[in-house]
Amino acid sequence: MKSLSQVLGAGALLASHAAVFGQDVFSVAQLAQLDAVPGLPTPAQLTSALKSGPGARLDRRVPLSTNDNTTVPLVDLQILHPPPTPKDGTHCTVELLRYAFGNSYDAPAIVPYSPPNSKDCGTVGQWGAVVGNLTVYSNGTQYDRLSSLYLDHVEIWRHSSAEPTKTGTVWTALKDLTPYTALLAKNGTLLMDFSNIIAADLGLDGVFYVTLTATFYSGALKAPAGLSPPPSEAIIPLSDLSPDHSNYFVVSDSAVGGVTKVTLPNNTVRAVVEVYCSGNSAEEFWYLNTPDEIVSYFSPSAGLTAKGPFREVQVLVDGRLAGVVWPFPVIYTGGITPTNWRPLTSYGAYNQPTYFVDITPFLPTLTDSSPHNITLMVVGQGLSPPNSINSNWFVSGNVRVTLGASTARTTGTIRSYSVDPYVHPTVRGLAGPENATVHATIGAQRKLKIVSDLFVGGKEKRSVVFEQDLSFSNAQDYASDGWVQWGTQLTTGFTKSSTNGKVSLLDTFAYPLSVFSNYTLYTMQFGAYNSAINQTFTRALVPPSGTPHTILWTSRAEGGVGMDDALGLRHAINGTGETTQTFAYGDIAGETYLRKSHAKNDGWVQDTVWGTLASGNPPVKDTTPGGGPGFRRRDFWLVPRGRALGPDDAL
Ligand SMILES: *[C@@H]1O[C@H](CO)[C@@H](O)[C@H](O)[C@H]1NC(C)=O
Ligand SMILES: *[C@@H]1O[C@H](CO)[C@@H](O)[C@H](O)[C@H]1NC(C)=O
Ligand SMILES: *[C@@H]1O[C@H](CO)[C@@H](O)[C@H](O)[C@H]1NC(C)=O
Ligand SMILES: *[C@@H]1O[C@H](CO)[C@@H](O)[C@H](O)[C@H]1NC(C)=O
Ligand SMILES: *[C@@H]1O[C@H](CO)[C@@H](O)[C@H](O)[C@H]1NC(C)=O
Ligand SMILES: *[C@@H]1O[C@H](CO)[C@@H](O)[C@H](O)[C@H]1NC(C)=O
Ligand SMILES: *[C@@H]1O[C@H](CO)[C@@H](O)[C@H](O)[C@H]1NC(C)=O
Ligand SMILES: *[C@@H]1O[C@H](CO)[C@@H](O)[C@H](O)[C@H]1NC(C)=O
Ligand SMILES: *[C@@H]1O[C@H](CO)[C@@H](O)[C@H](O)[C@H]1NC(C)=O
Ligand SMILES: *[C@@H]1O[C@H](CO)[C@@H](O)[C@H](O)[C@H]1NC(C)=O
Repeated sequence: MKSLSQVLGAGALLASHAAVFGQDVFSVAQLAQLDAVPGLPTPAQLTSALKSGPGARLDRRVPLSTNDNTTVPLVDLQILHPPPTPKDGTHCTVELLRYAFGNSYDAPAIVPYSPPNSKDCGTVGQWGAVVGNLTVYSNGTQYDRLSSLYLDHVEIWRHSSAEPTKTGTVWTALKDLTPYTALLAKNGTLLMDFSNIIAADLGLDGVFYVTLTATFYSGALKAPAGLSPPPSEAIIPLSDLSPDHSNYFVVSDSAVGGVTKVTLPNNTVRAVVEVYCSGNSAEEFWYLNTPDEIVSYFSPSAGLTAKGPFREVQVLVDGRLAGVVWPFPVIYTGGITPTNWRPLTSYGAYNQPTYFVDITPFLPTLTDSSPHNITLMVVGQGLSPPNSINSNWFVSGNVRVTLGASTARTTGTIRSYSVDPYVHPTVRGLAGPENATVHATIGAQRKLKIVSDLFVGGKEKRSVVFEQDLSFSNAQDYASDGWVQWGTQLTTGFTKSSTNGKVSLLDTFAYPLSVFSNYTLYTMQFGAYNSAINQTFTRALVPPSGTPHTILWTSRAEGGVGMDDALGLRHAINGTGETTQTFAYGDIAGETYLRKSHAKNDGWVQDTVWGTLASGNPPVKDTTPGGGPGFRRRDFWLVPRGRALGPDDAL
């Protein structure tokens, strides 16, 4: 078997991925952006904090698996820091939703919301922090299912489930909901879609029991003044506004985006779009999709998904491109090899990252008190016009609006607009003799800059600059007619806004990903497949509101799944998986959260947490040096033959 480096050679891409586990995750240009925000940790500083902590001993190898069985219930988790909360003052916890999602396909839970009125909760709308807690219990067999949560049609949380164990699985995700204060401060409607299917004949019996709470803090969050602006004063949904279905746009055509008509108050001084986006179905693994240019090298029976790995989510104002998102690839718990993600998930599985595009430079036209079209589009690199993507992407967002002190209309002009409507990714493909191996590289770059002069409050002049500098590279190698695939991707760059030269939004990121998968035995009776996945999430963020912070997450996972003989209904019957991760959070207020976790075969090997926020999200208790027993299913011969399910196998 060839190693990844033998197949790819010592290419620049691989070299940059090797650096993921070292310190040089950010380029010189990206580090220069961080200089403008004193106190924002660099990835190198977080790496050394991880190395010096108590979790360092985790790097040692541990003995192989034992016959220990799964802890009941199994605690699943996505590593994330607990949101910082005020140290002074009182707080209260309110239950927002308790619901069992059984046969809930396209049937969301819908409940009224009212702001809490008890004294401990603090003054409505003046909270120092609001922290959401989404806790789910499930037992039985179930796919990973996507859920989305909306308050008054504004998506506030996108979450995917664990694949539960028969003896019970529980997971908790915490999310900082403070940026949604404008919505939380008034009566509204909470809608949670968690489309699930219970079908005894398919062996799908896992119900998701959801408890959603929010904790409201009366005190003030300590953060250096000036850099943590309070939450915006109005939040406008960018969604399909449906009263009784999920509210994200389902985008399956790159020429047809989701359009929302938006009317902004005429004294708006700042407007920032937040974007939620994720690929689904043939776009779930978009980063591994095969470019159209090389798809003919493989036989159609290999079943490769075309249209290439490059994807761009676009935000348009009245049809004019305002900014883009090059998303982080979130891998769900059923993704690539499900045994890799139980009990330790990939980054974003339970709390997907969101992205920001500042549309403040468009205020001169947006403040005319009439409706404007804000469009969320997804474009790819497919060659068959006019559609460059597969089906489908789920995309939604909101506009965070800050109002001026006076009622005077904001006016001004867009002074320069330097934006290409589309970047054309380069594709280079190379086939070996008899097409036995195929190698392809894909690259894309984007620079975008919009400069406006605004006059706010009738007199004050503000120069507003929104800019993006992004780079994408992807290398793919195939063997065995595409049944063996190596995919290596790096998305990196920055998004920045400034007002009169002062940074008001900064998103500096690097998202390396490396996937090896081997499906050569997939179609045979008692088939099997396996994979190895390395991934990193590095992001230094000055958000539109809240505390500037840096996150560095790295993951290394390897696993395999064996399947039953019911052709057409591929149930996993056994498998192994081992995942090690490190996580570091640091913010400009000096708070830290560091964690090293190691899971194996449905059990915890080790979990270590330290840093100032450690007590807000402590380590799991039940660890065993050998991890768990691995996934086994003994009743697989009971599965009916020949029934068609989706591309994933239920565990
Ligand atoms: C893929 O799996 C098959 C079956 O286990 C094995 O024979 C082959 O060596 C594997 N290929 C690679 C590149 O790992
Ligand atoms: C776990 O394993 C022990 C010893 O093998 C066994 O006695 C026990 O019943 C098992 N528990 C579960 C929940 O399977
Ligand atoms: C989250 O909520 C669950 C159930 O409501 C509770 O058991 C758990 O302690 C909460 N966790 C935190 C950190 O608040
Ligand atoms: C889940 O656990 C409950 C309580 O033990 C049990 O009654 C139920 O049958 C289990 N459900 C499945 C699908 O295993
Ligand atoms: C908000 O809802 C609560 C609970 O239903 C109700 O008592 C209150 O009057 C409502 N407030 C407004 C402003 O509608
Ligand atoms: C701005 O909006 C307010 C409130 O709708 C309105 O009273 C005012 O006339 C508007 N000003 C301008 C210049 O359009
Ligand atoms: C290799 O793929 C090319 C491009 O589709 C095709 O023209 C050629 O016939 C293939 N060669 C073999 C031996 O399959
Ligand atoms: C918004 O889109 C509609 C439908 O395409 C179009 O008629 C209208 O002119 C657009 N509005 C603006 C301000 O561009
Ligand atoms: C993941 O990283 C480890 C350590 O650098 C390396 O040995 C392994 O080959 C990598 N795997 C993949 C799929 O990139
Ligand atoms: C999984 O089950 C199959 C079918 O019984 C068996 O051939 C295979 O060895 C098992 N694999 C593991 C890892 O237990």
